[in-house]
Amino acid sequence: MGKQIMRKPFIAGNWKMYKTVAEGVALAEGLKQTLADVTTMELAVCTPATALMAVGQTLAGSHIGVGAQNMFWKDEGAFTGEISPLMVKEWAQYVILGHSERRQFFGETDETVNLKLKAALAHGLTPIVCIGESLDQNKAGETVDFVGSQMRGAFTGVSAGDAVKVVLAYEPIWAIGTGLTATPEDANRIIKAAIRDVLTALYDAETAGAIRVQYGGSVKPDNMADFIVMPEIDGALVGGASLKVDSFTAIVKNAIAALSV
Ligand code: PGA
Repeated sequence: MGKQIMRKPFIAGNWKMYKTVAEGVALAEGLKQTLADVTTMELAVCTPATALMAVGQTLAGSHIGVGAQNMFWKDEGAFTGEISPLMVKEWAQYVILGHSERRQFFGETDETVNLKLKAALAHGLTPIVCIGESLDQNKAGETVDFVGSQMRGAFTGVSAGDAVKVVLAYEPIWAIGTGLTATPEDANRIIKAAIRDVLTALYDAETAGAIRVQYGGSVKPDNMADFIVMPEIDGALVGGASLKVDSFTAIVKNAIAALSV
């Protein structure tokens, strides 16, 4: 019995602070070839800001989109070191917002994620909003409350019409880059209770049912299938395994095979 697919599956790579321009172009060129025939799944690579232009040019006309990993919420101004939505959208269609590494190391808060989310939507960029609990919160049984509060913070003042354009990435912090993963069943349960049900309360069931939720945290070729077949999981945000043509390609192909799409 296959999974009934309600939302277009979406797998994105998060290159983090890896890849010079030349390395990023080489990776993008490889993926453009190996994934040329993929049309049933939405695909994107989120590159360092310095590689957005070159990777954007490399992937133009392919089915693989491009995303940034962060941006500021203003169009322009005296904000040294930041990049604006206008700059991102010259080359990219997506932007990751609120990744746990930005929350942990760079002072990102639910309030700044909300401002960035509204700016992304206003500029026609698809935000990939990351949420997830720490190991301590997980052990203390606080996951659903905490992720629910991140959700309410992110969506403050966002209309239902805009909310359906958002992609969420549920990433338990303790599973990122560690080789540990949530079990697919736990991830599915938390996405239902802390994300889908919160969206239903904020909007309605139809809106909640239209929003895609990725799982992230040590996704690899050999575990992708187990996650993608879960009813609440619509794809993945992949860090380490997105840095090589072979492993990212295998993740996408394994997801396609598991869903028979
Ligand atoms: P990982 O990273 O796949 O290396 O665990 C995922 C992420 O941080 O988005």
